[in-house]
Amino acid sequence: MIRKILSALCVTAMALAAVSCGAAPSESASDTTSGSTVTEAATTTEAATPTEVTSEATSEATKPDAKSDTLVVVFSCTGTTKSVADKIVSITGADLYEIEAKEPYTDADRDWTDKNSRCTKEQNDKSARPEISSSKITLDGYKTIFIGYPIWFGQEPRIMDTFVESYDFGTAAVIPFCTSGSSGIGSSGKDLAKNAGSGSWLEGKRFGSSVTEDELKSWIGSLGLQKGESTMVLKISGTEVPVIWEDNASVKELQKLAASGLKISMSKYGGFEQVGPIGQKITRSDNQTTTAPGDIVLYSGDQMVIFYGSNSWSYTRLGKIDLPEDKIKELLSNGDVTVTLEIK
Ligand SMILES: Cc1cc2nc3c(=O)[nH]c(=O)nc-3n(C[C@H](O)[C@H](O)[C@H](O)COP(=O)(O)O)c2cc1C
Repeated sequence: MIRKILSALCVTAMALAAVSCGAAPSESASDTTSGSTVTEAATTTEAATPTEVTSEATSEATKPDAKSDTLVVVFSCTGTTKSVADKIVSITGADLYEIEAKEPYTDADRDWTDKNSRCTKEQNDKSARPEISSSKITLDGYKTIFIGYPIWFGQEPRIMDTFVESYDFGTAAVIPFCTSGSSGIGSSGKDLAKNAGSGSWLEGKRFGSSVTEDELKSWIGSLGLQKGESTMVLKISGTEVPVIWEDNASVKELQKLAASGLKISMSKYGGFEQVGPIGQKITRSDNQTTTAPGDIVLYSGDQMVIFYGSNSWSYTRLGKIDLPEDKIKELLSNGDVTVTLEIK
């Protein structure tokens, strides 16, 4: 199976890569010590000289408002992917988080020519989840997360699956990147997205060890990443409508569902509303409510209702369409509609 993945070209490239792996045990060791937590990364950029690294500076850097809204997560055994991660940090001013294996990968572990080596065995086992020793971080507040790793036998190292399964990426834009001897990124980005189950994952990219900061800059520019808040966009039968969303747990959960695109088939009911299933239960905090045209509510924990008239019932408020009443009636009262939610 793995043999199929490796083309003759790739094997040659891997041979070169393996030489560098084998030749650089000290590189690996220094990688491990330079493994910076989010806090340490922020301190390093702040503090230019050792004398400036005071405990005051450290506690300053741990303040949430000292964080960037961009994070670079990286796993790297021989420093190639880490050097790409460092360049992305320098371009974007992102925080850095390095994934370290609880049981570090030795040269023998990474011997791709040995079918009994640790890496070969782990990559042959899709359920392998090597443990991470780096301290846990919170992803709250990060709008953009770059996630980097080396390609191992055409795939992401299994420890990357351990990472993505341990975190909730919310609605953040997640961008995979990798380095390799010659193989492309393959399905690794999509496999990570699937295992993560959250986040708005973009197409990833593979880089060689010699990629320049200018090349990375133009790649990052091409991603069309937006600064600031991501917004949940509601469309009624294809027409985007402005919505003022509530700030509550139900809307946050809805945003997570919207991150992978949510389609709700609605039906007219009672001459005053459109109602349709979200597809699963989300948090509800129902209150007796008299609705007005444009109100969007959660009914029974798993149904979305949008009003073009009024009703009194126990609902959880989700938001309000910010359009005049006649426009709302025009959109909702002329037959069943399809509502889509997505994150922009
Ligand atoms: C176990 C193992 C498997 C590898 N498999 C591939 C591969 O399938 N294709 C490829 O081009 N390079 C492969 N490589 C080479 C690495 O992807 C490459 O050297 C990478 O840049 C190393 O990144 P790092 O220094 O951040 O660990 C493999 C390396 C190892 C150790």
